[in-house]
Parts: sequence; structure tokens; C-alpha cells
Amino acid sequence: MNSTVEQLKKKFDQALIAAFGSEYAGCDPMLVNASNPKFGDYQSNAPLSLTKRLGKPPRAIAQAIVQHLDINDICQPPVVAGAGFINFTLKPEYLEAQLNAIQANARLGVESPKTKERVVVDFSSPNIAKEMHVGHLRSTIIGDCIARILEFWGHDVLRLNHVGDWGTQFGMLIAYLREAYPEALTTANALDLGDLVSLYRQAKKRFDEDQEFQELARQEVVKLQAGAEDTNRAWQLLCEQSRREFQVIYDLLDVHLQERGESFYNPLLPAVLEDLDKLGLLVENAGAMCVFLDGFTNKEGQPLPLIVKKSDGGYNYATTDLAALRYRIEQDGAERIIYVTDAGQANHFAQFFQVARRAEWIPDDVEVVHVPFGLVLGEDNKKLKTRSGETVRLRDLLDEAIARARTDLKTRLQEEGRQETEEFIENVAKTVGISAVKYADLSQNRTSNYMFSYDKMLALQGNTAPYMLYAYVRIQGISRKGGIDFDNLGADAKILLQEETELVLAKHLLQLSEVLREVEQDLMPNRLCQYLFELSQKFNQFYDRCPVLQAEEPQRISRLSLCDLTARTLKLGLTLLGIPVLERM
Ligand code: ARG
Repeated sequence: MNSTVEQLKKKFDQALIAAFGSEYAGCDPMLVNASNPKFGDYQSNAPLSLTKRLGKPPRAIAQAIVQHLDINDICQPPVVAGAGFINFTLKPEYLEAQLNAIQANARLGVESPKTKERVVVDFSSPNIAKEMHVGHLRSTIIGDCIARILEFWGHDVLRLNHVGDWGTQFGMLIAYLREAYPEALTTANALDLGDLVSLYRQAKKRFDEDQEFQELARQEVVKLQAGAEDTNRAWQLLCEQSRREFQVIYDLLDVHLQERGESFYNPLLPAVLEDLDKLGLLVENAGAMCVFLDGFTNKEGQPLPLIVKKSDGGYNYATTDLAALRYRIEQDGAERIIYVTDAGQANHFAQFFQVARRAEWIPDDVEVVHVPFGLVLGEDNKKLKTRSGETVRLRDLLDEAIARARTDLKTRLQEEGRQETEEFIENVAKTVGISAVKYADLSQNRTSNYMFSYDKMLALQGNTAPYMLYAYVRIQGISRKGGIDFDNLGADAKILLQEETELVLAKHLLQLSEVLREVEQDLMPNRLCQYLFELSQKFNQFYDRCPVLQAEEPQRISRLSLCDLTARTLKLGLTLLGIPVLERM
């Protein structure tokens, strides 16, 4: 089934050809949601943009298009308005037919995939031996949501965890491990990440204070690169310990990804340099190998270099990213590569993308995009920190959200005089707590900073996960109360739209596929959150106005169907955000 916008586009195209000739085929009708429901449902801004090309005033263009629009089955007669807009109001019969058609459809009218793309989503990507921080949390939540939506569209998604598992810091860590925990090199499972973080701090301290230690650390780097057995074992041990702790977070969040760390690309780094050299892009500068960038300058206005090999022979973060980019295109067959990191890395991406483009490593049909996001702020409007000023451990943050959700739930149960099992309480607390954190993150325009507030994200009112989950629970309550099996409403469950709130809800339900298309393209999950929030609001308005179980037939069954469609839309939408629904809460 085609979405309303797609159908309108088709009709519009036909009208444009009929009015002005076939050279106007494929013009963008520039459809937007009407700014005010008074004017209808959709508005086309195309006549204004065609003025120059057609050499006619926009209103005349609009009139000519309207005359040729054969759109009776979808809308009321379209109206030319203002400077030359065309307003469309959908007919209730059309809405009813569309809704009736999607009832039996598991994808709720969202077209099945046609073009299948191979997409890499590079997200989460924490660093070994360092704690995962809130920046990684944002990347994990946003990346997972983007991957889910692309998968739903049928794309072949490779979810990659570009873990920071290589670099000179390992020399320092291994040297310290050898010195302070010699037994760690022989016994497995001797450390957990809590220890690793303090280990990192202690190693850094030793490194900064002691020249001899610095030399030992350097030797470990050389040994690691040469593949020396015991050094390699120590490195493995550090990676495994980290991995285990990261997995705890991924399990809590129900996020799945494939680890392919920086070390994976090590063997491919020399070829990156060789090829850059062959292309004449490589320049030696103060002992380092680099590519001078276009459009990036230092304070003196001199072009900035992107260093691909340091004077000590080591490679950089960007070198690995260049190798990874080539591998993903050549070996993984990626057609779209999406990198989800904090906005602070925007320059890094712009720079290595530029070098890769100049080297012609990115074919025209491959899209590479950096998906940046802002900072997580504390309630003091500064970067989120613990009371003692340290970075917040993700584990603690998620546990706290769950603990607070549990407290809220227990209070509510007491107020409502409800008895629930421990198992029920644990499940609801965990789902609500984790969902609240995810939703608070996803519902913001990702490019801006957002303030982390347990109170706000756990509130039952407002644009929050609990509000959305509760709307779903409310609908399940209707089915329980009426003894109704939504899955078996029967063939005569026809939707009839009479009340204003029914029409408003119906129109909204039919916009899901347009919204998911938008997110597929511009990778802004907050669009889907906003859609679901408005859906919950519109449902609540409908439910306040229109009796459901008490209504007469055929209204009763029609309204039950609307409830069911709303619940299924909420469930699908929330699932795509990585949020599971609850039957009761
Ligand atoms: N490990 C990096 C960090 O913690 C993020 C890596 C993002 N992915 C990439 N291909 N550069 O900041």
C-alpha cells in the first residue's frame, strides 16, 4: 500500500504533466502537513517554486494544477490559497478505506522493502580499559534506533562496534600490569573493569612520573606490534575484561552489535599510506606523514595536516578510519556508512572523509555520513558528573533509573491499593527505567545538548517513555475490561469515522510510514518520538470524547478497531526505538 503522500505525489505528477507537458514530470510537489487544520491536511508549495520556470504567477499555476488534479477519491476539491499554495483535505471515506486496509497488515501499511541497501552503522564504540561514558550511551541508544529503523525498511544492516582496542596507551597498561599484577598475566578472570579503570589511572600516574617506566611502556608497544606472545596475552586479557563489562550494559539495553575493533584494521594501515603516496597526496612534515587538508587552517591561516603516521612510526585514529572505510566499501559492500558519535568529532569525520574523497576511495553511489549528537548535561547545565565531580558510570546511571522507577511504582501501587508480585515489580521497574533513559535521549533533536533529569524522564505526564507505555497499557486495559480479543475483532470490524477526534486520530495513524521514511533519510529519531507522543495525545483525546465499550454498534466495533490500531502502532514505533511495551504497569 502506498502512503497518502505517495499517492498525492503521483496524482500531482499526473496533473502537472497534463497542465504543462511531460517535461514537468517528477517535479517535487513540496507537500507539507498543513500548518493549521483549518486549511486541511496537506499543503503543496510547488506552484511558488515553479514560477520562474513557467514564467507565470504562482496562483495561476496553482489554478492550472488544481484543474487537472484527478483526486476525488482521496480529497475534497483542492483549494488554491494565499500566494499560491494548494490545500488538500482528506475525505473520511478515504481514511476509512485506508485504515480498513491496514488492519490485517502486520506492517501497518508501511510498504514492504523495495530497494535493499547494504548499510554499516558504526555506533557505541567505547574504548578498551576505559569506562563507557554517557557519550557512548548516547551513541549506543541512537545507533541502535537508527539500525532498527533501517532494518525495518529491509536494509541489510551491519552493526559495527568500532572499539578503541589499540594504541600506545596499551604499552603503558601492559607495563603496569606486569609490574603491579604479575599474576594477572597467568590467571584468567583476575580483574573486572572497575579495577581496570583504576589500573588505567595508576598506570598513567606511573607513566607521567617515571622516565624509566615510559621506556618500558614504549618497549611494550613495540612488542605488541611485533606480536610478542606474552605482551599479546596481556592485551587480550585487558580486552576481554572490558568486553565483559560492556556486555553487561548491552544486555541491560538489549542492544546487539558486532565487535570489530580498531586492531582489526592494523594489517591494512601500511597500504593506506602506500596508496596515498602513489596518488601524490602524502607529504612529509617534521618527520610525520600527512595529507594537507583543503579548507582547514590553523590560526596563522596555513592549511592543516591530517597526520596519518606519526614521527615515532605510530598510526593515528584517522589512519584506522581510512582503512576501515576502504574495508567497509570493498569487503563489506557497504552502500551507506553511518557513524554515530558526539558532535565534538565532527572535524575528524569531515577530515578523513575529505582525504578519502580526494583519493577517490568513495564511489559516487556510496554515502558516508557522520551522525553527530550533543552533550549530556547535568541539572546544573554543565557536563554530567557525579556529585564528587567524576564521570558517571553507565552502570550506575542505569541502575539508578531502575531504582527510581521501582520506588515510583511501589508508591503508585500503594495508592491504588494494588498487590503485585516481586517479579512483576522488577520487570516493570526495569522496563520503565531503561526505557525512560532511552526515550529521554531519543526524543531530543540529537544535535543539541540535553539535560539529564531522572524526575523528568520518569514522569507519567509529558513527552516521556512512561507516558507512552501508559497509553499502550490503557488500551490493553480496554480489551481486558471488555473481554475483547483485539486479534480477533472479525471481518466485520469496519472503521467508521464520525467524530472530530476520530478523524484526527485516523489521519495521524496513517502517517507512520511517512515518518519512518523521514527517519530513514535524515536519521533523526526524535521525529518518530514526536509522532508517537502526538499519537498518544490524540488517542487520549479520542478516548475522553468517544465512549468505546459503551457505544452502540457499528460504532463500538469501529472504535475498538481504532484502539487496536493505535496500540499496534505504538508497539511497533516503540519497538523501533528499542523500547518494549508492557501489558500492565
Ligand atoms: N572510540 C571512539 C570514541 O570513544 C569512537 C569511535 C567511533 N567510530 C569511528 N569509526 N571513529 O570516541
